[in-house]
Amino acid sequence: MTGVWTGVAGAYARSFAGLCAGAVPTMLDGLPSGARLLDVGCGTGVLVAEARRRGHDAVALEPDPEMAALAGDLLRDEVIVGGLPDLPLADDGFDVVTANFVLNHVDDPRAGARELVRVAAPGGVVRATIWTSAPSAQGQLFRDVLEASGAVEPVLPRLDPTADFERSAAGASLLLAEAGARVSEARTVDWVWHVDPDDFWAAPTGGVAGLGIAWAAQTPEVRTRMRVELDRLCEPLLEDGLLRFPATAAFVEARVPRA
Ligand SMILES: C[S@@+](CC[C@H](N)C(=O)[O-])C[C@H]1O[C@@H](n2cnc3c(N)ncnc32)[C@H](O)[C@@H]1O
Repeated sequence: MTGVWTGVAGAYARSFAGLCAGAVPTMLDGLPSGARLLDVGCGTGVLVAEARRRGHDAVALEPDPEMAALAGDLLRDEVIVGGLPDLPLADDGFDVVTANFVLNHVDDPRAGARELVRVAAPGGVVRATIWTSAPSAQGQLFRDVLEASGAVEPVLPRLDPTADFERSAAGASLLLAEAGARVSEARTVDWVWHVDPDDFWAAPTGGVAGLGIAWAAQTPEVRTRMRVELDRLCEPLLEDGLLRFPATAAFVEARVPRA
């Protein structure tokens, strides 16, 4: 599903990058100091920037060239262009390999997890977050907008059931355990995403993820109604002019056995 991420970097930076950034402290807390860290699917580069601020030797990798350029601007550094399940990297090179909301976007999550483990050093860790199958606050608002606007149901891409995995901490744990790592932590993590309604709206209108697919399926008239309905339905969620969305994700850490 890498193609879904083509041409959406600017809209992602305005919208869901802020949501995903909420998991960055969990991804980085408690790591050994000065770790060699690889962030796979780095998006706009926020995790790597924070890892460097904390003193880690962090490298960013991203398959979408436009997103990689945004991350490069933030980091003032080269971003490796590449993607799961074939990273252009040698075995065992990193103490920490992170994938923040990436395993839930790849065509072959099992092969992706194996690749994360391959590039982590023996004794190193892989840390990953995914969205769970529980409905999200922003997803609920968007569904309400679709319904109130008389929008058509979007056809969202689904993984083949044989490639898919349970969207939970247990499901993500199983992926990494099957890839040969020992799960050391598996839990949910909660935070609150505050976003300006115009920035939130950049996600559908800019083609980001399922919201972008839903937007693309609508007529111009429906799209106009959708914005009107957003402004009406978001009223109760506003706090100082920003939408307040409670967020929950699954977080897993798994350790790569020493040879
Ligand atoms: C939800 S975004 C998360 C971005 C970033 N990790 C963050 O926390 O903001 C998903 C990211 O995964 C990247 N991606 C998609 N397919 C990928 C693949 N096969 N391998 C690595 N990254 C991939 C996308 O380009 C996008 O940057």
